[in-house]
Amino acid sequence: MSTSLDIKTNFSLKRCNTFAIDAYADKFIAISSVDELAQALDQISSGPFLVLGGGSNLLLDQSRIHQPVLWINNKGIEVLKQTEAEVLVRAGAGENWHELVLWSIERGFGGLENLSLIPGNVGAAPVQNIGAYGVELKDVLHQVEVMNLATGEVELLGAEECSLGYRDSVFKSTRRGRWIIMAVIFRLTRMHHQLRLEYGSIQNRLAQSGISEPTIRDVSNAVIRIRQERLPDPAQLPNAGSFFKNPLVSVTQYETLKEAYPDIPCYEQPDASLKLPAAWLIESCQWKGVRRGDVGVHEQHALVLVNYGRASGGEIIELAQEIQHSVFQRFAIQLDFEVNLASKSLFGPHADS
Ligand code: EPU
Repeated sequence: MSTSLDIKTNFSLKRCNTFAIDAYADKFIAISSVDELAQALDQISSGPFLVLGGGSNLLLDQSRIHQPVLWINNKGIEVLKQTEAEVLVRAGAGENWHELVLWSIERGFGGLENLSLIPGNVGAAPVQNIGAYGVELKDVLHQVEVMNLATGEVELLGAEECSLGYRDSVFKSTRRGRWIIMAVIFRLTRMHHQLRLEYGSIQNRLAQSGISEPTIRDVSNAVIRIRQERLPDPAQLPNAGSFFKNPLVSVTQYETLKEAYPDIPCYEQPDASLKLPAAWLIESCQWKGVRRGDVGVHEQHALVLVNYGRASGGEIIELAQEIQHSVFQRFAIQLDFEVNLASKSLFGPHADS
């Protein structure tokens, strides 16, 4: 039996994006099941639309969104299957990410602890291949449950079909707009947890607490404390986490940079390229703590842009472009946005027009 859709008009999206940008949607539809999604798609079959989750990695770059906004809010966390060693957990796309992490830790399921306190919802995790402190979603992803927009069928994609890379996936690149993520299935451990403690900040935090044999809960608590100290809480100071990706450079490029900037840090990647901390590049260009009206570069972390009040998406982009420009002038490195622009993230026919 189909339920009637919850459709709102002229709806403020301020509470639906962690930048707290007060953009308005002409039409806003909350979706809490596959059935509701099918009904909504029937109604809007003629044009592009925006799919919104937790809004934690999105920049609403227009003050009014004329295309319908589908807010994916389907809930539910359940164990699908377990053995003595492993468990498959399915979480609805609309579940809050950190609540899923806490739910898992509560039950002794390992794998998500380093990803504690990442803002946003479960559905965005495969899109961005979210990552922190040495772990990425790809390390725990089993399958993604999607609605195929061409057929209207629900499909299960295996982790390898998602081509997860550094803050990248098929969902934002080659297959953009083809599927809507409805749920994510994780493969977690029930015993012999593979703790990832290589980050110095985690080791320091555990040592300070006198913990030599950490549990998954200890690691989660350490990550929570580190994030709370370094990154602004979007509920207090609206932001979308890292605004830019950390750029990858070749060894030769790095060596040239190191001659001019002997302190420049880098992290070796499995493919032998080197990742540079964008925060260091931005801080070197004196942007840390800079404020322009209601937009600023966070005082404690140069990679995070913040909205001090009534910033518009356009104002945030202006500052971001100035930062890109000065980093390029100084280091000849192009910083790419990590956040997705709403205007470039539309689904459906003529989405790019
Ligand atoms: N640094 C500075 N100035 C600063 C902050 C950092 O120079 O203001 C330098 C330091 O050298 C520091 C290095 O940058 O050692 C790395 O900083 P941090 O450990 O905070 O990590 P990050 O590279 O800035 C990445 C992710 C974060 C994730 C952390 C921890 C990206 C774009 N960001 O940040 O993810 O939490 O590592 O693993 O890869 C996000 O994606 O939104 C996000 C917050």
